[in-house]
Amino acid sequence: MNIAVVGTGYVGLVVGTLLADMGHQVICVDNDRRKVEALCQGIIPIYEPGLDHLVKRNLHEERLSFTEDIQAAVAASEVAYIAVGTPSADDGSADLSGVFAVARSIGSHATRSLTIVIKSTVPVGTADGVRAVLREASTLPHDVVSNPEFLKEGTAVEDFRNPDRIIVGCASEGPRRVMERLYKPLLRTGKPILFMDNRSAEMSKYAANAFLATRISFINELARLCELVDADIDAVRRGAGTDSRIGLRFFFPGAGYGGSCFPKDVRALQYTASQHDLHMHVVDAAEQVNLEQKRLLARKIFARFGPDLTGLKLAVWGLAFKPRTDDMREAPSLVIIQMLLDAGATVVAYDPEAMGEARHSLGDTVTYAESSGEALDGADALLVITEWNEFRSPDFEVIRARLARPIIFDGRNIYDPAELAALGFEYYCIGRGKPDYPA
Ligand SMILES: NC(=O)c1ccc[n+]([C@@H]2O[C@H](COP(=O)([O-])OP(=O)(O)OC[C@H]3O[C@@H](n4cnc5c(N)ncnc54)[C@H](O)[C@@H]3O)[C@@H](O)[C@H]2O)c1
Repeated sequence: MNIAVVGTGYVGLVVGTLLADMGHQVICVDNDRRKVEALCQGIIPIYEPGLDHLVKRNLHEERLSFTEDIQAAVAASEVAYIAVGTPSADDGSADLSGVFAVARSIGSHATRSLTIVIKSTVPVGTADGVRAVLREASTLPHDVVSNPEFLKEGTAVEDFRNPDRIIVGCASEGPRRVMERLYKPLLRTGKPILFMDNRSAEMSKYAANAFLATRISFINELARLCELVDADIDAVRRGAGTDSRIGLRFFFPGAGYGGSCFPKDVRALQYTASQHDLHMHVVDAAEQVNLEQKRLLARKIFARFGPDLTGLKLAVWGLAFKPRTDDMREAPSLVIIQMLLDAGATVVAYDPEAMGEARHSLGDTVTYAESSGEALDGADALLVITEWNEFRSPDFEVIRARLARPIIFDGRNIYDPAELAALGFEYYCIGRGKPDYPA
């Protein structure tokens, strides 16, 4: 099939590249000229494991191309994906201006009836809005499909190729058959393609993200209680999570959830509910707990060093909102580092992939180290904020030698408290044992 994918970010680039890799002819469109120019040369603007060589290969084999020219892309296509961002507006609602602008543009350039696939995460009712925009912009009948994406940054290639399920919201048989044909190669393992109405498909994405956010906030809140009652959240996590109704996956305490999806999607769901005079108490609580959790590591540092951190140098390992991505959107590191800087500390940070992105938000308020080791030199403590693999089994002798003081704040519970105590470290983590910050 001939496919246009409009919006070539974390989602659009993966979707477009993997559709091309399945044999389709794909044109990826973006209005960011620098991004398009780089992609045309096979330089990918994001860090996503495994994506680089797929982009290069499909470019080389001429199944994949990149352009700013939406008109040409639409004219050449039977299916057009909308994969632009839907960031939070000031009132918490999803900003749909990009989605509607692209829909209008697709409609006005269409030379035949298209299947228009909304890949962006959009609130319930957006497909109806897109249909209305298309009716204004085009005299042709177009089908609108809601096809939310569930890939995870860091494992996006594998997630797209081997999805738990594919959700397709549509109103008739025609687009259903198109989507079945398109996704058939991904469903060989027997995973389902779930057909439903557009509104339920739109809601399904928010249901999944709000539930996952709630799960994280639940274990984080439980971790705080564990500290107060001198229990170990790691044992409790296993104790509860081995119940097959609960499960151990995605059930780890930490420094709070961030990223481009959970925070904004939780807010957008709250907004939708509020428009219908519904107060979603569980979802509100998930967000509230998360805001507190993002501050927790800094609070532990204040408890240890006092509220004035002037003269203190702190090493930070990990800036991205999670490992295996360079995405800094709503990363807990941003909140923690700002609190430390406001209290007078100097911060030396290292992240294997996200330092370029981090510079956009943190600028030169922090020093960026060339290596994880360099970040440690002369620092009064080490903070681990993102659990990249390379931080998991470090040489603690080297850490102790390079730090000015043997103190570690571990926001992801990746180290063993007993081992660190035996090595002479002061070790602070999340929810394992006695409280080390004021409740
Ligand atoms: N990032 C994820 O892990 C993830 C996962 C599932 C769903 N989603 C959803 O997918 C959507 C896209 O997310 P993302 O992370 O890829 O965003 P992104 O910001 O990385 O990418 C969006 C891209 O769209 C481009 N764009 C914006 N307006 C445009 C226009 N008018 N014409 C052409 N290009 C335009 C931008 O330049 C950018 O390259 C969002 O709705 C998000 O919630 C994201």
